Amino acid sequence: MNEPLLLARDLHKSFGKTTALDGAAVGVDAGEVLAIMGPSGSGKSTLLHCLAGIVRPDAGEIRYRGRDLIAMDDKERSALRRTEFGFVFQFGQLVPELTCVENVALPLRLSGVKRKAAEVKAIEWLNRLEVDDVAGNRPGDVSGGQGQRVAVARALVTGPRVIFADEPTGALDSLNGEKVMRMLTSAAKQSDAAVVLVTHEPRVAAYSDREIVVRDGKATDRELVA
Ligand SMILES: Nc1ncnc2c1ncn2[C@@H]1O[C@H](COP(=O)(O)OP(=O)(O)OP(=O)(O)O)[C@@H](O)[C@H]1O
Ligand SMILES: [Mg+2]
Repeated sequence: MNEPLLLARDLHKSFGKTTALDGAAVGVDAGEVLAIMGPSGSGKSTLLHCLAGIVRPDAGEIRYRGRDLIAMDDKERSALRRTEFGFVFQFGQLVPELTCVENVALPLRLSGVKRKAAEVKAIEWLNRLEVDDVAGNRPGDVSGGQGQRVAVARALVTGPRVIFADEPTGALDSLNGEKVMRMLTSAAKQSDAAVVLVTHEPRVAAYSDREIVVRDGKATDRELVA
């Protein structure tokens, strides 16, 4: 079998005396939607942050397209995050001073795309997520569900290979949560992007292709036991 797109083995991470990860293994294939489930405090977010190159594990192995994520220097890792990864968090984390279209255009602007071209692309994505009607609003002037769909547009606008989503519907009612999940997963599938989704709601995990469970910092995915 080919190596997964993103592969982590035997991850360990402690914060002071707290063990957050205690031998977690996970593989993400290209284009798949993987749900990471488990109780509060079990290490889901820590695992996601390690996979995304935001948190450095104390020990273990992480490979993205065969490249060693832990051995990379900060510059290389942040370039990778900017070009290959997209992020959606529980509270959209849109920039409050910018309009929705400017928020979605921002990752393109940071990669050197000119304003006009970036905004045209941003509008396309807002349209795809059915929130183009709030393009000119600031994030404070849209609903929670609209804000999360703007955040999904921002995560996908650069054409990433992996979207990391930590409780993306955690602040929404069930109807809006379902809408965000439906749009997130269908937009990712259309772009052939993988989604790594952290949730403790089975209703949300139902949108995934596959689920793994983290308990006490341990998760064992398929045959990846070290
Ligand atoms: N930056 C940090 N500093 C100290 N402890 C931390 C830090 N991040 C996580 N922890 C601890 O590590 C453990 C795992 O936390 P993590 O956030 O990964 O859990 P989680 O499964 O995402 O929980 P939740 O479902 O509540 O979001 C917890 O005991 C938590 O308190
Ligand atoms: Mg968490």
